This record gives sequence, C-alpha cells and structure tokens, in this order.
Amino acid sequence: MNVIITGASAGIGRALAVTFAHKGHPILAVARRGERLAALSEEMAEKGAARVHCLAMDITAPGAPQILYEEAIRTFGKVHVLINNAGMSPYQEFHELSYCHLCQILALNVLALTELCYLFMPHMLAHGEPSRVVNMGSVGAYAPLPRFPVYTGSKHYLRVFTNLLAYEYRKTNIRVSAIHPGGVKTEFPALAGQRIKPFAQYAMMTPEQLAEIAYPAILKGKRVIVPGTLYKAAALMGKLFPFPWAIRVTEFVYDLSMDQVPPTYP
Ligand SMILES: NC(=O)c1ccc[n+]([C@@H]2O[C@H](COP(=O)([O-])OP(=O)(O)OC[C@H]3O[C@@H](n4cnc5c(N)ncnc54)[C@H](OP(=O)(O)O)[C@@H]3O)[C@@H](O)[C@H]2O)c1
Repeated sequence: MNVIITGASAGIGRALAVTFAHKGHPILAVARRGERLAALSEEMAEKGAARVHCLAMDITAPGAPQILYEEAIRTFGKVHVLINNAGMSPYQEFHELSYCHLCQILALNVLALTELCYLFMPHMLAHGEPSRVVNMGSVGAYAPLPRFPVYTGSKHYLRVFTNLLAYEYRKTNIRVSAIHPGGVKTEFPALAGQRIKPFAQYAMMTPEQLAEIAYPAILKGKRVIVPGTLYKAAALMGKLFPFPWAIRVTEFVYDLSMDQVPPTYP
C-alpha cells in the first residue's frame, strides 16, 4: 500500500511513517521542514525500510492540497492510504488567540484535511483497490478541552465528518478511520504553550506506542481508534457526562497537570 502522511516531520506523523515504512509500505512524507523529512528518509533507507519520499510544503498554502495530490500521483501512480495527521493549536482562551492562529487552526485542522479527502477519495474509488483514509482527531472530540475552544471544535468537526465518510463509503473498498489520542509526548504541548508537570508525563504515551496501536487498527479499517485505556475512559466520560460536568472534570485535570505558558508556534 502506498501511504501519504501529513505532519511526518515530527511526533505522531513521524512515528506512523517509521512504522509503515518498516512494514514495507512506501511513504510520501509531507511537512514544512524538509530537512527533517530528508533525515527521516535517510534513516529509513539505512535501516532497509521501504522508501520514504519527501514533500516539503505548507499544506494550508493556497492550492497546496492540489499540488500534493499531483505529486502523490506522479510518485506512486496509485495511493492507498491517506493519513491526515498534521494539526495545531495554541493552548489559549478564545480572546487570547491571535487572529493568525485562529485562521491557522481552521485552515490546517479542518480545510486542508477536508480538501485532501475530497481529492484522494475519488482517486481511491477509481482504482478500486483496498484503501484507507485516516484522520487524526483528539480525545477532545469527546471530552471538552478547556483553553482549546477552536481546536476542540475542529476535532468535533473531524469526528463527525469522518464518521459520515465511513458511512458513505461503507460499500466501497475504502475504509475511513479517526484516531483520537489523549496526551502524547510530541512537540505539540511546547508549541501549544502547555508546560506539562513531571507527574502528568506518566499518563502520556509516546508517539511510537501510539503508532504500534494504530497500525493494525488502520489496516483492519476500524472506524474509531482511541489509543490507551485512560483515554478510552476520558472519551467515555465525555460521551456520558453532561457538558457542564465534563468540562469541570477536564478543567480540573488540566489545571492539575499543566501550566499555561506562551505558545511557541512560528
Ligand atoms: N500530542 C498530543 O498530545 C496530541 C493529542 C491529541 C491529538 N493530537 C493530534 O495529533 C496530530 C499530530 O500532532 P503531534 O502531537 O504529533 O504534533 P507535532 O509534534 O507538533 O507535529 C505536528 C506535525 O504537523 C506538521 N505541520 C504543522 N503545520 C503544518 C502545515 N501547515 N503544513 C504541513 N505540515 C504541518 C509539523 O511539521 P512542520 O512544522 O515541519 O510543518 C509536524 O510534522 C495533530 O492533529 C494533533 O492535533 C496530538
């Protein structure tokens, strides 16, 4: 299966790229930091894994999804797996968010992801071979996250959108999944402006652990993947508790586990 992964220069996307490449799947790794992608590609080549092609681009730039699509078809001919992983958000209340960050969250977490599905799913339908579309959500798509109003909203959009795509394409060879992680030790918290307290790090998983759980679930075509028992419980709490209770629980946990510091996004 030929695989595209957005946000493959770091964190969860990189770990997924490593896992898929080690299992023999050629990868088109996409992110802005081309030097990171090139290093990943070299590392995979040295280890005898499948080829990792690199595409350095900002997927929110005008026309970028179309360019990505054309490059993927040129590289692979047929694409079988699209992993919309890239995502961002400062950890800030609504009034604290800069307008630029507000637009970036929506452009990346919602628009680019939707446009990439729109471009690649007809292609997958046309070639007819078993295919997968995977959207990287968050446990926040179930349990409301304080100081993440636009981010949590974007992940709710992703959850509902992904469920409906899974339903619409159920009679085809395309399986559609959403992964909803809880805390993962990546660059995300520092970029977002979350200083995680040492004890709370124990509750977080590594991106490699997440990728090991996600890989077989993606291949099976599971519609919803929530890695880790703790985060399954958090998602269940978000589903069962009325909003005013759920937000108080998550706010209590967040206030206990982290400090809010300025975001460091470029
Ligand atoms: N870490 C967590 O605790 C956590 C929890 C729940 C959900 N998630 C979700 O998991 C996904 C991955 O997050 P992560 O934790 O791995 O974050 P990360 O370490 O910050 O990695 C984000 C990746 O996205 C890429 N990216 C960001 N903006 C981009 C753009 N405009 N165009 C192309 N690539 C872009 C980054 O690469 P460049 O900077 O090189 O472009 C990087 O490779 C996100 O959707 C996030 O919402 C994370």
